[in-house]
Amino acid sequence: MGKNFQAYFVGAVSALGGFLFGYDIGVMSSILEMEYWKVYFNRPSSVEVGVIVSLLTAGCFVGSLAAGWIADKFSRKRTIMASSLVFCLGAAIQCGSRNRGMLIAGRFVAGLAVGCLSMTVPVFQSEIAPAHIRGRLVSLQQWAITWGLLIAFWIDYGCHFIDSDASWRIPMGIQIVPALILFVAMFFIPYSPRWLVDHDQAEKAHQVLARLRANGDINAPEVLAELEEIKEAVRVERETAVRSYMDLLRFPIRRRIILGVAIQALQQLTGINVIMYYATSIFKQSGLTGDNASLIAQGVNGVVNMLATVPAILWIDRWGRRKTLIFGALGCGLTYFIKAVATGATQHKTYDEDGSLNLNLPKGASYLAIVMMYLFVVSFAMSWGPIGWIYPSEIFPMHMRSKANSITTASNWLFNFVIGLVAPILIKKITWGLDLIFAIIMFASVGIIYLFFPETKNRSLEEMEVIFTGSAWAHKDRKRIDEYDITVQHNIDAKVADKS
Ligand code: BGC
Repeated sequence: MGKNFQAYFVGAVSALGGFLFGYDIGVMSSILEMEYWKVYFNRPSSVEVGVIVSLLTAGCFVGSLAAGWIADKFSRKRTIMASSLVFCLGAAIQCGSRNRGMLIAGRFVAGLAVGCLSMTVPVFQSEIAPAHIRGRLVSLQQWAITWGLLIAFWIDYGCHFIDSDASWRIPMGIQIVPALILFVAMFFIPYSPRWLVDHDQAEKAHQVLARLRANGDINAPEVLAELEEIKEAVRVERETAVRSYMDLLRFPIRRRIILGVAIQALQQLTGINVIMYYATSIFKQSGLTGDNASLIAQGVNGVVNMLATVPAILWIDRWGRRKTLIFGALGCGLTYFIKAVATGATQHKTYDEDGSLNLNLPKGASYLAIVMMYLFVVSFAMSWGPIGWIYPSEIFPMHMRSKANSITTASNWLFNFVIGLVAPILIKKITWGLDLIFAIIMFASVGIIYLFFPETKNRSLEEMEVIFTGSAWAHKDRKRIDEYDITVQHNIDAKVADKS
């Protein structure tokens, strides 16, 4: 069995949490269009629909904040297990809803679970991963999110042919299955070795590391070395004794919390969810008429998103975080810019009787806009999608990792919520102006990443102390980190020379 098989297995099982995340945010968009759903809930107004949709994100926000404390106290593993049960409850309430109140409550409860999972899964994956494949393991959660979005869409599509309330109850209920699989599978998954050391269970951590790194060989040199590194880091952290939420705002964590919150906020400010939530109406505006054409175009969008995440899984640890984010932002910015120009130069607005907007683009401009949307999704999926989750999960020291990630994750949900709320208004009001705003944000992100975000690929979690305690200007700090690398190499060479 390959040496890292166990690490991949643990990373893949916990990624199911990402699947629940993707499924539950994806499932509602097409249900909203189902006639049986509209009739059953008395044709909710657009404000009521907004509440039903966004209560999930509100739950996610609260859940991610709470998870910081829970995952420290009760372990990452138990938090994931408990979240999957809470998710089942939320899904059951949604599936069995008798009125709007029940549906909204179900969305909120499921949101609590998704919020908890979205913070705990990447932290857990990051803590069980060997440094050289950490990006890849955390990318698995992003891949699972894209699978969740995709499968939710096609299940909705399949069920909308059913001639009864089952058309919307099935897609809502079926998500209990992966949640139960996650719950059961987690029994076979170990605790995070880093959490164990931090909870004075170094012996157990030793066994887990041996299982994860060396097929159970407790004397393998890499296992002993990593255990020592973790113990030493925890010992030093205890001496400095920063553990409270207030310490997030002080040196040496403050810089990292700013970067973590910024990367999560910018991930949402790519505008990805404008497309994920409202693609059908954007496709319609751009000239794909007929319900089916724009629905299928959105389904294809889900497939593009899933497939384009694969290169990130394969190569993110080789490309590095900085380069990938910079190229990703350039790709997103350019595609937005071209779409804005193509639309702005040719649009001729008219409104249907129901108030929906048509841009009446000429064929060429309409195809160009659609292709640019797909290329934008490709750029996002290969870069900001996975790294938005990887980076915060790897930059904090053990004792603050969970708390800090709860804040960074909450900022992701907050921006998700706000963008979900204002986007439909802006799409209608300023059309291509919104593309231009996102293009400007993306071009600004190129500079922000270049100036402030140090590279973290291939570093152990314990080494992050060295990376983040220098100058806040990442591009000026290279020399210090190179010197650190030279010293480490010297020490290794000296040890080898000693032995021989
Ligand atoms: C984002 C989600 C988004 C998804 C799309 C995730 O990384 O956090 O908001 O819907 O990617 O694939």
